[in-house]
Amino acid sequence: MSAPDDVTLVGFAELSATVVRARLLAAHERFWDVETRPLHHPVWFDQFGGFGALARSADGEDVGYLLGVVTADRLAYLHLLAVRDDRRRTGLGRRLVAWFDDLSRNTGARVVQAVTWPEDTAAVALHTALGASAHLAQDRAGPGQHRLVLTRSLAR
Ligand SMILES: CC(C)(COP(=O)(O)OP(=O)(O)OC[C@H]1O[C@@H](n2cnc3c(N)ncnc32)[C@H](O)[C@@H]1OP(=O)(O)O)[C@@H](O)C(=O)NCCC(=O)NCCS
Repeated sequence: MSAPDDVTLVGFAELSATVVRARLLAAHERFWDVETRPLHHPVWFDQFGGFGALARSADGEDVGYLLGVVTADRLAYLHLLAVRDDRRRTGLGRRLVAWFDDLSRNTGARVVQAVTWPEDTAAVALHTALGASAHLAQDRAGPGQHRLVLTRSLAR
């Protein structure tokens, strides 16, 4: 299915990052099946907000978002990506990733990387569909807390 036309992507730099962060945290359960609030540290909105994007419907609702950063060694790190539960499988996740890819390429990035839970089938499917290769990082988030590192080249 293609993305509904009513959705617009807006860079966090054009928004009030603090207000958006509070709204997204208040709606956390619409975006996530697992607890991710601690991963929404203000630094991702205030200092790295220039790399983030919010997907808004025509009626002004937050329906998806992406947080990330490009590092000094040209790695585009996609920190969090979420689409609201009623808007999934419409191409919005793919659209947010494409937005981040473009910004990252323009910032000089060569590789994009995301880290997710091995059991997050939707995220794994999305990134592998885009061409990412997966590597299981044992204990990455603590003892017994394995994560999947998904890495993809940013071809020009
Ligand atoms: C992962 C997530 C962002 C995907 O967003 P989405 O808007 O539904 O994804 P898209 O519609 O752009 O899907 C793109 C492709 O990804 C794959 N995909 C996405 N969700 C899938 C699912 N549930 N099962 C299988 N494949 C899936 C498909 O290949 C899909 O292409 P298709 O619809 O043409 O078959 C969304 O499921 C989500 O927000 N999940 C909860 C938060 C989360 O786990 N985020 C990832 C960790 S950072």
